[in-house]
Amino acid sequence: MTARPRILLTRRWPEAVERRAGARFEVTLNPDDRPLSEAELATAMRTHDALCPTITDRVTAAVLGVSDRRADIVASYGVGYEHIDLAAARAAGIRVTNTPGVLTDATADLALTLILMTARRSGEGERELRAGAWTGWRPTHLLGQSLKGKRLGLVGFGRIAQATAERARFGFGMEIAYYARRPAPADIADRLGARFVPDLGDLLADADFVSLHVPGGTETRHMIDGAALARMRPDAILINTARGDVVNEAALIAALQERRIAGAGLDVFAGEPNVSPALRVLDNAVLLPHLGSATRETREAMGLRVLANLEAWFDGKPTPDTVA
Ligand code: DGY
Repeated sequence: MTARPRILLTRRWPEAVERRAGARFEVTLNPDDRPLSEAELATAMRTHDALCPTITDRVTAAVLGVSDRRADIVASYGVGYEHIDLAAARAAGIRVTNTPGVLTDATADLALTLILMTARRSGEGERELRAGAWTGWRPTHLLGQSLKGKRLGLVGFGRIAQATAERARFGFGMEIAYYARRPAPADIADRLGARFVPDLGDLLADADFVSLHVPGGTETRHMIDGAALARMRPDAILINTARGDVVNEAALIAALQERRIAGAGLDVFAGEPNVSPALRVLDNAVLLPHLGSATRETREAMGLRVLANLEAWFDGKPTPDTVA
């Protein structure tokens, strides 16, 4: 292996981590910080020892299957990996890694941000004030709801869901229930006072807030469809910090327009960065531009995690975060 392996970062990283990468690797940056095309990614597989994409790059079978390939590792900057064709990577013998763990707290913080913003109608209030339409304090102005004693239903119960449960329960006095393929170990569920609900529809019907924490990809696509939304109560709120595709967006828009659910707090969308105009005009939706992991500390930690995987790989050691 070359002494200074050549790696491509498809987007700009926090400066400190780019510098750190440069100490060990010959780094190609993307100075314009624009999304690279499939052809550019495929070329990078021929000209570099490692590709470091983000969750917005489509690392397809065509990218992974290029002839005269030089890169044997795709070290992704992010925890989700549905943007990488894992079957094609396995078939080509390409190692794939991600960055789990380091963005758990930031993403859980953002789930709580959306719970609070939707519960307290913060987006509506801010828009009203900025528009110069605030007429002053009055007892019935923009009444939201309290969180204490409300039921939070978590769909999925991995690291981020558990961190969300911890904040909701111990910070805000919410009751926690979760739906997952199987119950969590008793010590985890007991500590969080989290009740396992084996049926998704039952969880949806019971919750004041439903928060989604499942991975993206074909298995979870449209898990929350029209029928699932119909199980939610008219005063319930849907929170999504997972992936846009988990929700059938057209069905969600209809449910919000017809007030069949009270609101939604969304950090992720089906066609990012395009967000449906019908969603953008809804007062009962809080919309954020995929900010779940967007803290300085977290984005640096994610970069360091990519580097840890690359260092292990090029040192001939097991990669800590192997996905394929
Ligand atoms: C991820 O890493 O999968 C998040 O969606 C972005 O941080």
